[in-house]
Amino acid sequence: MASVSDRRTFAIISHPDAGKTTLTEKLLLFGGAIHLAGEVKARGQARRARSDWMKIEQQRGISVTSSVMTFEREGITFNLLDTPGHEDFSEDTYRTLTAVDSAVMVIDAAKGIEPQTRKLFEVCRLRNVPIITFVNKVDREGRPVFETLDEIADMLALDVVPMTWPVGMGGEFEGIYDLVANRLLLPEGGSREFQGKVVETTGLDDPKLDEILSAEGVAKLREDAELAMAGYEPFSVEAYQGGDLTPVYFGSALKEFGVDSLINAIAAFAPPPRTQPAEPEPVAPSRDEVTGFVFKVQANMDPNHRDRIAFMRLCSGVFKRGMKLTPTGHGKPIAIHSPILFFARERELADEAYPGDIIGIPNHGVLRVGDTLSERADVRFTGLPNFAPEILRRVALKDPTKTKQLRKALDDMAEEGVTQVFYPDIGSNWIIGVVGQLQLEVLLSRLEAEYKVAAGLEMAPFETARWISSEDPKDLQEFMGLNRGAMAKDRDGNPVFMAKSAWEVGYIADRYTKVKFAATRER
Ligand code: G4P
Repeated sequence: MASVSDRRTFAIISHPDAGKTTLTEKLLLFGGAIHLAGEVKARGQARRARSDWMKIEQQRGISVTSSVMTFEREGITFNLLDTPGHEDFSEDTYRTLTAVDSAVMVIDAAKGIEPQTRKLFEVCRLRNVPIITFVNKVDREGRPVFETLDEIADMLALDVVPMTWPVGMGGEFEGIYDLVANRLLLPEGGSREFQGKVVETTGLDDPKLDEILSAEGVAKLREDAELAMAGYEPFSVEAYQGGDLTPVYFGSALKEFGVDSLINAIAAFAPPPRTQPAEPEPVAPSRDEVTGFVFKVQANMDPNHRDRIAFMRLCSGVFKRGMKLTPTGHGKPIAIHSPILFFARERELADEAYPGDIIGIPNHGVLRVGDTLSERADVRFTGLPNFAPEILRRVALKDPTKTKQLRKALDDMAEEGVTQVFYPDIGSNWIIGVVGQLQLEVLLSRLEAEYKVAAGLEMAPFETARWISSEDPKDLQEFMGLNRGAMAKDRDGNPVFMAKSAWEVGYIADRYTKVKFAATRER
């Protein structure tokens, strides 16, 4: 199906400040999706200003909400999924990465691989998501190119292949040489803001280079390129798509330099929608039946409505508006009359969507993260885990008459994947679990703003939680009976063992070998 091979669904992973927002803007600009650079941020800020709890985002200068941007260029449809960049949101980010076929890793030329990049990279690795690297900010003083390349190779255990090479950096920056197409990209204009001129060459020996570049610049380029070609593997699409090799591009998102080489690389090499892990068998995009999974649920995108939007990645079939899809395992078929495609300029109503596309499905809380939707309800996508929370807190209600509202709020937020909630078998002190500290602040401010519930958080008597199961239900019952004080249920009623420390989990697990203790729960 032509529409499948023409799709590129990807995410940008980076450490905060490496230039993800700027690069996103420029990609959309090149894709013709927006006309004014700066719009992504401006729109983002305008949107944020509308909702109270999102003040946190502004204060911290991070993006909590993740969105989807679609643009087209030369017959290819790009779906760019924005991943929240802050380290506190690893779980949310992880889920977004389950919905992409490839990723672009943005690195600051002066800083190299930073902790957050590394963490996100590991998530990509887990799922074999292939990565194209963009070394950003070459218009500033950066580290030597070889140092950056070797760091990527060493820290991430990946083969690196430089596809382009900067001629100088910072004040000495003269342009970028495309080692594959043998072209020289030159900045143009008085302020040297934009990549204007492309000079075709016959290769690095071309005397044209001597005319255009400074003597030092061209000598260094030739020397570096020769060393690079001898020292690194040649590029192989198979090795890249298998997640073993990363092609590396250099540029400056701010100065719009090297961005089109990047976009061309995504079009040429990044995989189209891939076969997705599922039961009873993996689902290929060529399957006729429409199938997809929900990787994110977001409330209050429009403050005037209390509706939720479930973000579904389409995995197979051609989706048509009005189609009925059934969530596997629960619920009746849902007729999807107003699906949303997330275009950069505005949210638009979708009539048709193809594998790899993301559609937003408005609903009243029926759809949950991890849900499979399909026409015949005969598949279930696997591999969208819940993570064991690293921080547990007891929720203390300031006004005891608000118990019902609190329960609804906690359930809602658990359903969105913002926090997890645990209801202890004994006592009424509900416990919430998060992967990162910032989620606690989000929780409290949303409780107040959206549910009018004033609450505080107290230390919980537990530090971590594990989902428990056993082959023989009797073993589980026995364990639960003996450890009543540590038992709780998650939002879906699954039994959870609450532990005072990770050490205790190990100790207990050694003693009860018939019970399985899981740090993630697959839905
Ligand atoms: P992020 O989303 O990854 O957090 O990064 P963002 O794009 O917001 O960029 C972080 C800072 O780096 C911004 O500067 C941005 O202008 C700058 N930047 C991005 N790409 C380049 C580049 O190629 N070259 C140079 N020199 N700078 C770049 P800021 O001053 O923090 O924000 P702003 O006031 O410019 O928005």
